[in-house]
Amino acid sequence: MAKDDQIPFEAALLASTGPIEALLRRLLDDRPLSGEIARPQRLMEAMRHGVLNGGKRLRPFLVMESAALFSADGEAALRVAAALECVHCYSLIHDDLPAMDDDDLRRGQPTVHKAFDEATAILAGDALLALAFDIIADEATMLPAERRAALVLALARAAGAGGMVGGQMLDLEAERIQPEEAGIIRLQAMKTGALIRFACEAGAIVAGAPAADRERLAEFGSAIGLAFQLADDLLDLTADARQMGKATGKDAAAGKATLVALHGANWARNQLQGLVDQAHALLCPYGEDAVLLKQAAEFVAARNS
Ligand code: IPE
Ligand code: IPE
Ligand code: MG
Ligand code: MG
Ligand code: MG
Repeated sequence: MAKDDQIPFEAALLASTGPIEALLRRLLDDRPLSGEIARPQRLMEAMRHGVLNGGKRLRPFLVMESAALFSADGEAALRVAAALECVHCYSLIHDDLPAMDDDDLRRGQPTVHKAFDEATAILAGDALLALAFDIIADEATMLPAERRAALVLALARAAGAGGMVGGQMLDLEAERIQPEEAGIIRLQAMKTGALIRFACEAGAIVAGAPAADRERLAEFGSAIGLAFQLADDLLDLTADARQMGKATGKDAAAGKATLVALHGANWARNQLQGLVDQAHALLCPYGEDAVLLKQAAEFVAARNS
């Protein structure tokens, strides 16, 4: 892939963030929703700090583009995208806690527990997780009830014990147990891959696409999910904190089990190209309609932030 291909895609990604930023801001308003009693200001400020702080918004982009592939309703897809970003941001807030990766910097700013305190960061993450399911289930997500239920179920499976949280558990254990390649791939497919897989599958669910398309998009998401964490591990080794907006060089220092640690940077770069090829092949049936998703796969592998 030519390096020049990166610039237009990054511009498209950045240009896509306006509506998602605006919706997230509205969803994190201080005013309580019907059925809520009050929204404590400090909690809301911590949630906004953890969400409205300049993330790449790649997962929302994937939801929107996979929905567009099947001509789905853009407004409903945007709400699902916002829900997923709430889960992602919660996972980052908790990942940065002293009991986990103990990081002070996220998206170029102090992490939530640094800007507030640990208990507030834990609660901000908890509330973001609940908010995600609120957003999808709400009638404002104008989809048939069974599609909203299917999205709630798929997101719950992606986020929970058998998905992201389970992957984080295995990731912590892997500092002691040092798994083989298959074990590392499994934990990464869970901690990072599951939410990215959901991002791509969700568009097909929003659209009510046939099961075979839903499965194909989910497989595409799995391939780029693995590539995403592989690139993250590579960047932890090769990039600096200013570029990444978060500390780097931490995986090796913590003895973190990664494929980069196991096989080295060159192997990882080859592997990344293989995952991009696999992702592209999965999108073949959609031809030109999938051009942005294909570029997203390249971006994931070649990103530098
Ligand atoms: C970082 O995700 C966490 C991992 C899963 C490796 P991103 O690189 O997408 O983080 P933001 O949302 O852009 O900050
Ligand atoms: C994070 O993996 C995965 C989740 C947040 C679920 P990392 O710990 O490698 O992510 P960074 O490097 O802190 O963003
Ligand atoms: Mg971590
Ligand atoms: Mg981390
Ligand atoms: Mg990392």
